[in-house]
Amino acid sequence: MKKILILGAKGNLGGQLIKVFSKKNEVIAWDREEIDITDKELIYKKVSDIKPDIIINAAAYNAVDKCEEDENEFELAKKLNCQAVGYLAEAAISVNSILVHYSSDYVFGGHANKTNSEQIKRIKKQGGFKEDDNPDPVNKYGESKFMGERELISRSGKGLKWYLIRTSKLFGPKGESEVAKPSFFDIMLKLAKEKEVLDVVDEEMSCFTYTPDLAKATRKLIESDMGYGIYHIVNEGPCAWYQAAKELFGIAGINITVNPVSGDKFPRPAKRPSYSVLLNTKFEQLRSWQEALREYLKIKNL
Ligand SMILES: NC(=O)c1ccc[n+]([C@@H]2O[C@H](COP(=O)([O-])OP(=O)(O)OC[C@H]3O[C@@H](n4cnc5c(N)ncnc54)[C@H](OP(=O)(O)O)[C@@H]3O)[C@@H](O)[C@H]2O)c1
Repeated sequence: MKKILILGAKGNLGGQLIKVFSKKNEVIAWDREEIDITDKELIYKKVSDIKPDIIINAAAYNAVDKCEEDENEFELAKKLNCQAVGYLAEAAISVNSILVHYSSDYVFGGHANKTNSEQIKRIKKQGGFKEDDNPDPVNKYGESKFMGERELISRSGKGLKWYLIRTSKLFGPKGESEVAKPSFFDIMLKLAKEKEVLDVVDEEMSCFTYTPDLAKATRKLIESDMGYGIYHIVNEGPCAWYQAAKELFGIAGINITVNPVSGDKFPRPAKRPSYSVLLNTKFEQLRSWQEALREYLKIKNL
């Protein structure tokens, strides 16, 4: 039995990690009431008190648009997504814990926005961004996540045992936090109750990921003898938002007209990557997102 510290326990992924890891381990689940992960001294103290075998960090700053517009918010994003990762890494080294941290497909995407980019042609041809492709974020949130990745990777040679799991477009049961973000599918289901016609952006190719699948894959990865390093864990089959909405309403048997529109129709402060498909070349493939979505709708009685 291992002692596992889960941070961001009330978040969307955090809740699923608790479920999966509690089966065979001693789980200590903390959210911001128990620890503010931007507080360096508190992290060192609390981690050295409990000496976990594994620290799983699912806490993050995720307000993509807010931190694009407001410098103070960007500072907060960097504190949570970057500096806190460094504190956790140092604390993990000091008690010899393994550190698991999550990053995002949004560390990629800048490639596609550069005219005549040969790189993006190569990436699309290979089926997405591989684990060792160079990040190039298009927005400040992506920048903060990339900075966090470097906090982890730079401690590789200093004795840190780490897994960096990049994932994208999470969906699944909502976390316990009152402010946990609803997923795209939950937003679409809510809108379908209010409208008969929906305009949905037919852009931003990337992969959906079902949080219960990601939590199980995280456990499998840790229990495997695969080496430390970067992993891409997503459900199979890239798609844009429009296709996802069509599939959702098809499976749920909801009769609604869905129109594909360009991203210009819904201007937002932060640019989104037009292509940020994560290619998983190291870990076993997860099931398709459609299959995972069917399971999610079943547990919602749809
Ligand atoms: N959501 C996605 O589509 C997506 C896509 C790609 C990658 N990811 C990554 O996947 C991971 C999990 O994401 P998620 O969507 O499950 O996140 P989430 O639902 O936003 O959960 C994050 C949790 O961290 C807590 N938290 C915030 N600030 C904290 C602090 N200073 N100290 C301690 N806890 C704090 C939050 O509390 P409050 O709720 O009270 O703020 C929340 O419970 C993150 O690393 C995220 O960047 C997510």
